[in-house]
Amino acid sequence: MQLIVTGGAGFIGSGFIRWALAAHPDVRILNLDKLTYAGNLENLASIENDPRYTFVRADICDVDAVNDAFEAAPPDAVVHFAAESHVDRSILSPAAAVDTNVRGTFVLLEAARRRNGGRFVHVSTDEVYGSLEAPIEADESFPLRPSSPYSASKAASDLIALSYVKTFGLDVVVTRAANNYGPYQFPEKLIPLMIANALEGEPLPVYGDGRQVRDWLHVDDHCRAIWAVLETGRTGGIYNISADEPLANIDIVTRILAILGADESLIRHVTDRPGHDRRYAISSETIRRETGWAPRHSIEEGLSETVAWYRANQEWVRRVRSGGYTEYYDRNYGRRAGDAESGVTGDRAGVRSR
Ligand code: NAD
Ligand code: TYD
Repeated sequence: MQLIVTGGAGFIGSGFIRWALAAHPDVRILNLDKLTYAGNLENLASIENDPRYTFVRADICDVDAVNDAFEAAPPDAVVHFAAESHVDRSILSPAAAVDTNVRGTFVLLEAARRRNGGRFVHVSTDEVYGSLEAPIEADESFPLRPSSPYSASKAASDLIALSYVKTFGLDVVVTRAANNYGPYQFPEKLIPLMIANALEGEPLPVYGDGRQVRDWLHVDDHCRAIWAVLETGRTGGIYNISADEPLANIDIVTRILAILGADESLIRHVTDRPGHDRRYAISSETIRRETGWAPRHSIEEGLSETVAWYRANQEWVRRVRSGGYTEYYDRNYGRRAGDAESGVTGDRAGVRSR
């Protein structure tokens, strides 16, 4: 099977490529990735010389480059991860999220329909359902009420992808996963940021009261779920993916500190994110029933394993935290620091300059 994987140098895409090549000897993969700040070929060092793997550096918004890739490796399926994936960045600069997530998805769908691209797995997020009051859990028919430019751009791309099923008969499936965690996640998202800061004895910036709830899914469980949907999902099907591991942010942070044996005095409550969703919750009954998929990692064991990975790979963290990341960090956390409400005065809510 020939796959085109987009965004394969990122956190989940690289996990998917490593896993798919190991689990499926007959698979060949062309990885199409622009290598933004979040794309890191180091994540693929273990498979870069595998003859079944090819890398093409390209922007999914570039029609010619995308068409060339489809010509070079006519795919049996496309697995589309490439995205601007971070809510805070989409608040600071919404344009990139709209360009890549909406227009880039459209360019890929066009290539797939014009060039017989086979099955198209559109990798989306539970954030499209917006914030939900307990005890509501969204199933796949739930209304889309995204709050951030990121989640709105993902909801828009979900709808465009699904329109290609009805209008053009393209074989699209959409997945909507909960918050992922695990090795190789860029230290801008909650779990890797908190681990990396705690390892360096830096403050841990918790937005608002920290009682916001996220549902945690190990990246390996997500990759297996995507493969299950790729193989047996229904055309036009939408599949929520969750391990049913809801936790408040502050509880994640205190667990990380406990695993590291670090002090809770590192925690700083800083100014909240604008439009911050209070709670995500989805039912993943459909994928479990239709494909037999089930998660294998509990948050307890997965978080300990993830902390151990970051502890053993502090050089990786140091390398990805260089360059443009420093400027982002200044913009995002610099303005939160010094806020009277946050209790953070003087220092920069979490990081020293790098
Ligand atoms: P990531 O930010 O780690 O990686 C994104 C990758 O896409 C990078 O390699 C980047 O270089 C590439 N990319 C960005 N813009 C591109 C463009 N214009 N053209 C080509 N490549 C481009 O993201 P991730 O966390 O691995 O997320 C992957 C997908 O999974 C995204 O679609 C995201 O919406 C979805 N998702 C993520 C989570 C999560 O918790 N991280 C949860 C549910 C769904
Ligand atoms: P994040 O990892 O950015 O994922 P998402 O916003 O897509 O759910 O954030 C997870 C939660 O952690 C979210 O409620 C925001 C919160 N958060 C903090 O409290 N501090 C931080 O520095 C970051 C990055 C996130």
